[in-house]
Amino acid sequence: SWTTGNVIEEQVEAIRAQVGTKRAICGLSGGVDSAVAAALVQKAIGSQLTCVYVDHGLMRKGETEQVEKDFVAATGVQLKVVDAQERFLSALAGVSDPETKRKIIGREFIRVFEQAQAEIVAEGAAGGEDVAFLVQGTLYPDIVESGGGTGTANIKSHHNVGGLPEDLEFELVEPLRQLFKDEVRMVGQELGLPAEIVQRQPFPGPGLGIRIVGEVTQERLDLLREADAIAREELTAAGLDAEIWQCPVVLLADVRSVGVQGDGRTYGHPIVLRPVSSEDAMTADWTRMPYDVLARISTRITNEVRDVNRVVLDVTSKPPGTIEWE
Ligand code: XMP
Repeated sequence: SWTTGNVIEEQVEAIRAQVGTKRAICGLSGGVDSAVAAALVQKAIGSQLTCVYVDHGLMRKGETEQVEKDFVAATGVQLKVVDAQERFLSALAGVSDPETKRKIIGREFIRVFEQAQAEIVAEGAAGGEDVAFLVQGTLYPDIVESGGGTGTANIKSHHNVGGLPEDLEFELVEPLRQLFKDEVRMVGQELGLPAEIVQRQPFPGPGLGIRIVGEVTQERLDLLREADAIAREELTAAGLDAEIWQCPVVLLADVRSVGVQGDGRTYGHPIVLRPVSSEDAMTADWTRMPYDVLARISTRITNEVRDVNRVVLDVTSKPPGTIEWE
């Protein structure tokens, strides 16, 4: 029967059998899935694991610091932080097609992991044994929606599934690939991860890169980061974090509309709020959240974020909309 204890026991055994005495690296994103995968693998192989956090510049405000602090404190895992902002930005320059963005981001992640692997080997960890394994927090829905399930169309390439390059050198370790999000949270709790990690709302690996409709630039990322931070702050202050599954904040970078701000005409961008309620992200409904909270978010974003003169609410379920816009 399904218990978190059984899942952990089975996976620990499977991971040991797969990895043996070699080394593994685990891409940590700051999200629940990669944190639980890392904790599970650490339980199985201990110091043979090194976690790699890629700061791709597509993170939300405060996220990098949180990973460095919370996760390391909770697990004592070996963490390598790679600053790859330049690399991702230049790889994404000029690209607006969503699937192309996803594939580029998936590929750059792997290139950074390869570099980290070379560095770890050069540092001579654990007898110079080669790093052959890459741990990913892939869940069952990621596989299904990337077209890996039976009889399903490819909806979008999740960065860690359909977005992987073909010349991948790593062997993958994916201990969560049969689980749904709520099950992953239970496993994480059982493994002793703190609530701040286990209860965190989902955030996609490609980050803000797939929340800018249009080309990704530094300026647009900074703008979206500000708008997102305001929305998150107000949702938390209103006590809505548990009720809302997640609330993507999207910048329509290629759209402009006329506004009036201060003493004149503006021609700025709209920000979309996409609060959704869901059990497993396979389907979702838009959250009927209080108008006064929406009003506060709208007022603050249009007052505080340059070049934004309109905030709109996405009232589409999944299906027909997906949760993320790209
Ligand atoms: P969609 O947009 O497909 O999203 O309805 C379903 C859930 O998956 C998250 N998501 C991702 N997570 N890598 C991830 O780790 C990805 O490439 C990715 N794309 C979407 C999304 O935030 C939602 O929770």
